[in-house]
Amino acid sequence: MCGIVGYVGPKDCSEVLVSALTKLEYRGYDSAGIAVFDNGEIKTVKTKGKLKDLEDKLNEVGKPGGNVGIGHTRWATHGEPSDVNSHPHSGARVTIVHNGIIENYIELKEFLVSKGKTFESDTDTEVVTQLLDYKYNGNPLETIDDVMAELKGSFALGIMFKDFPDRVFAVRRESPLIVGVAEGESFIASDVPAILKYTRNYYLLDHDEIATLTKEGVTFVDEHLDPVEKELKTADWDMEAAEKGGYPHFMIKEINEQPEAIKTTIMPRIKDGLPCLEECGITLDKIKDFNNITIVACGTAMHAGMVGKYVIEDLARVPVTVDVASEFRYRNPIIGEGDLVIIISQSGETADSLAAMRLAKQKGAATLAIVNAKGSSIAREADMLIYTLAGPEIAVASTKAYTTQLSVMYLFAFELALAKETVSSAECKRLVSALMKMPEAVQYVIDNCEKKCKYIATKLITADSLLYIGRGLDYALSMEGSLKLKEVSYIHSESYAAGELKHGTISLIEEDMPVIAVATQTDVIPKTVSNIVEVKSRGAKVILVCTDICARELKDDVANYVVEIPHTDELLMPITAAVPLQILAYYTAVNRGNDPDKPRNLAKSVTVE
Ligand code: AGP
Repeated sequence: MCGIVGYVGPKDCSEVLVSALTKLEYRGYDSAGIAVFDNGEIKTVKTKGKLKDLEDKLNEVGKPGGNVGIGHTRWATHGEPSDVNSHPHSGARVTIVHNGIIENYIELKEFLVSKGKTFESDTDTEVVTQLLDYKYNGNPLETIDDVMAELKGSFALGIMFKDFPDRVFAVRRESPLIVGVAEGESFIASDVPAILKYTRNYYLLDHDEIATLTKEGVTFVDEHLDPVEKELKTADWDMEAAEKGGYPHFMIKEINEQPEAIKTTIMPRIKDGLPCLEECGITLDKIKDFNNITIVACGTAMHAGMVGKYVIEDLARVPVTVDVASEFRYRNPIIGEGDLVIIISQSGETADSLAAMRLAKQKGAATLAIVNAKGSSIAREADMLIYTLAGPEIAVASTKAYTTQLSVMYLFAFELALAKETVSSAECKRLVSALMKMPEAVQYVIDNCEKKCKYIATKLITADSLLYIGRGLDYALSMEGSLKLKEVSYIHSESYAAGELKHGTISLIEEDMPVIAVATQTDVIPKTVSNIVEVKSRGAKVILVCTDICARELKDDVANYVVEIPHTDELLMPITAAVPLQILAYYTAVNRGNDPDKPRNLAKSVTVE
């Protein structure tokens, strides 16, 4: 999704803006641009392509020299990626950058055309530019407020008025935006990593608040233009956490960070050997009466929810429905008072997940958010909140967010089972103790499986299509393995419940088609092995991810390649079994010449529908 930055201060603004934009590249983009006050005039340079293309253009046309400006990386929604559709967009008196979607842009455009305004681009953003221009009354705050009242949809905006060359204005509704501050300078950005080089102090802009950035500092007003006092936050991770630290890609760095991320996430939530989620607003008393749980999320986070369903149902005997947020929000779900809706999101800003949570609240359900990004919209609006403490996840393909989401799902399932008295305290302690061993187990898998997975990945690069199969928890994990591979390698892949293959999908199997089977659950291993034999005898090349125990019992030729992982408590196996699937996806992408951190067409934080 688009990235926004802005700067007011003593430094070379063009340099600060481009440098800050590089830290938002992970969000995905197809064009970039900056606008800077240069001797009282707004000078804009923008181009289709990457930041390198923008830098080349800046060198060619000359960098605007000034100290106040805004910048943007665009992920096209309305209008193809092109120079003219790139941001910033300017009217006669105003220049803006925008992240989000203006849903009523067609009617606004018709109105503005009827008033004689003309449009250069196909974007919804230019409508905001022209509307600001049309409504401008010499007072920027009143003008912005007036325009906001007309806009429907989501937006984070960085705005400069020609008449006010010493300041940048910022406003947001739904889309994320933070305001960074340091001595004598201030920043706006879509995400914290963009400002970390300059400061760790920032404010979270609330919906419909307007920030004014000047050299003297930052002021905030609400939608009634009344001043707002805001709490200054400090980022608890530094530049290093948002840098590659010697790894070639963020994705492999983040895979390697999983042992630490899991440990950091679970340890503060364990007391006397039992889960303790009181600080997250969760007590046994508060959750014991939930008899119906719905987990709502998108992509990887939804897959973590699938594992959560198996575990909660198994341990706490509470029925769990897992739903894709974009479906849940439009299907009039049957939930209400007394039900619990769990929303899982790394970014905490995914538009569909946020809308799903609001719908759940509207229907009277209690909401629990499992979120990684501190202070994000979902985190702020949920009734109960458990942060995954994974640190910044920069690669578009989620890895450490997934395994920390799983870790939190386990802690919650243990707590719920205690509340429901479906497990004894002693059994719960045993489970918690097994969970505490997972960081070490994950480290073991990274250390011992990377080489083999790297080799197997060389066998996948020419595949046109793959299947992932498993049963029970292994099936839930297969969904994530399949998504990981397809999103970074661009090889078509599907996950299937192994027992369902013979009801149609097995007809796809042909000579040398890779099938990745996951078999960690002892009770269904013989069944999965039968399914493996079925596909292998039809020509499939089988890659089996299984426990060491399972590997010892299998005949040598059951699979073409076997990745063995240590046997842990079986309920917890998805945490360790996820790792080889992530590594396979990573090396397949790299072998195919893809950038696994920024897969084509994808954005890290999906803040539009
Ligand atoms: C997974 O690798 C993707 N990045 C994607 O599926 C992601 O999990 C999904 O968009 C949800 O994002 P969220 O966790 O930030 O809500």
